[in-house]
Amino acid sequence: ANERTLSIIKPDAVAKNVIGKIISRFEKAELHVVAAKMMHLSQDQAEGFYAEHKERPFFNDLVAFMTSGPVVVQALEGEGAILTNRDLMGATNPKEAEAGTIRADFASSIDANAVHGSDSAASAEREIAYFFNDNEICPRG
Ligand code: CMP
Repeated sequence: ANERTLSIIKPDAVAKNVIGKIISRFEKAELHVVAAKMMHLSQDQAEGFYAEHKERPFFNDLVAFMTSGPVVVQALEGEGAILTNRDLMGATNPKEAEAGTIRADFASSIDANAVHGSDSAASAEREIAYFFNDNEICPRG
């Protein structure tokens, strides 16, 4: 089915100047950018986005990292977009990510892991609405 998913290009990948290389992989996989913005997340924005991880031991480090520099937030649309994006990203821990995935190629640690992608339809809906108003999403023509 046609789906939307939220993608974040994280501060490590922005600092490495590989925004375009990462978006190019989405495009090659027939995922279309239907919304995008660059932003430097505040503490509150990062904590709210990752609220489901609040009790996890890595929460503080995660929020510190995600607020350490600008990110590029996008809504991607395409056939099976949620799973397609997760396949492109590879495993959360870049050491376990398959060769040729975004994390294998651009990430350096489990925190500085280059990209975030929604893990389910419910998360995608929440995460897209977290960053974008309806009128900031530009459906494919
Ligand atoms: P992300 O997909 O953005 O969702 C939560 C993030 O927490 C994850 O990517 C990792 O960057 C980070 N993280 C740090 N430690 C862990 C861990 N042990 N398990 C899962 N995620 C972790």
